[in-house]
Parts: sequence; C-alpha cells; structure tokens
Amino acid sequence: MHSYSVRANNVLSFAVSVWMVLCAMATASDFFHKADPVVSVKLAKVERFLRVGRNDEAHLAFEIDADLTSVFSWNTKQLFVWLAAEYSTPKHVKSSVSVWDRIVESKEDAHLVLPFVRNKYKLVDNGAGLRGNVVNLTMGWQIMPRVGVLRKDNVTFPAAFTLSEEYPEPPQPQQRRTGVYAHPR
Ligand SMILES: *[C@@H]1O[C@H](CO)[C@@H](O)[C@H](O)[C@H]1NC(C)=O
Ligand SMILES: *[C@@H]1O[C@H](CO)[C@@H](O)[C@H](O)[C@H]1NC(C)=O
Repeated sequence: MHSYSVRANNVLSFAVSVWMVLCAMATASDFFHKADPVVSVKLAKVERFLRVGRNDEAHLAFEIDADLTSVFSWNTKQLFVWLAAEYSTPKHVKSSVSVWDRIVESKEDAHLVLPFVRNKYKLVDNGAGLRGNVVNLTMGWQIMPRVGVLRKDNVTFPAAFTLSEEYPEPPQPQQRRTGVYAHPR
C-alpha cells in the first residue's frame, strides 16, 4: 500500500513535469508564431454630432476590413478585438475611448469585412473637446491563448477624421436621472 502510493506520486510528478515542459514548448512555439495582420479602418460616417448638456457626443460608423487570420496559431483560444478613438484636448494630452469591440472565436471568423458598422459605444467627451478636433483610430487585439500568456497588438490610423466646428443639430439637455431604477448602478 505504501509503495503503491509512492509509485503513484512518482507517476504524478512525472506527469506534472511533462505537462510543464509541454506548456513551455507551447508558449515558446507560440511566441515565434509570425502574424501578418492586414488591417484597414476608416470612418464611414459621422451619423450624429451634438452637444448633450456640457458634453460633446459623436455617433459614428466605420468601414473595417481587418484580416486577423494569421494572428491565430494552434494555441489561440480567441481574440478580443477593439476599436478606440483617440484625441487630445488642452486639458488631456490623450483621451482614448473604446467605440466598438468584438470577440473572434475562430480563424474562420478572423477576417472582419464590415463596410458600414455603427459604433457600439458612442464617442463622448467630458466637455466640448470633440468640436473641430482630429481623431486617431486604433484597432487593437488581445490574443487569449490556450496555454501561456496573454498578448496584444494594435494598429493606429492617425488623423482618421476631423469633427466639424459646427454642431449639425441643436444641443440637447443632459438626461436627468430621476425616479427609481430597477437595476441601480
Ligand atoms: C495620433 O497619431 C499620431 C501619429 O501616430 C501621434 O503622433 C499622436 O500622438 C496620436 N494622438 C493621440 C491623441 O493619440
Ligand atoms: C499599441 O501597442 C504599443 C506597443 O506595441 C503600445 O505601446 C501602445 O500603448 C498600444 N496602444 C494602444 C492604444 O493600446
């Protein structure tokens, strides 16, 4: 009984060592995986641009053609792809606002061809910082591996668009939070 459990322990520790070596090899081979993503992101349309209370708000649509197929290796579980609008104001050197994201679960789905995709999250500036301002678009992706460490990469499209000096529609009052909410935040 005693010698049996010693042997079982040995088998277990051997299995753990093998597993650790496999993990190290997996991470190493994944590290040397060469990706050659081809990404194009453009503004398709500023659908709305207005002032709501004290803040500027832009509702945007994008033209995306992002081939991330080569980012997938055998060790890739999924990609978290996001699009950020980046701009600077006299107050903040860099504001980065996430406007869209998507989870890509397979290599077959990794070529995103979206000729007109609306923002998931509108671009809101905490102030009047969008008016007449230049905006960079950055597409980033987080690579979630089966084994090993998370990695990320991105591509920036500088000065992807400029918002107008004039607001095309009249300002709106800030929505007031009144009443009782079923799901308070
Ligand atoms: C926009 O892109 C340009 C060129 O890459 C860069 O110099 C600038 O800092 C970027 N602006 C912001 C706000 O990230
Ligand atoms: C893009 O990647 C570079 C490193 O490759 C990093 O320094 C930078 O912060 C990233 N930008 C964004 C917006 O994640």
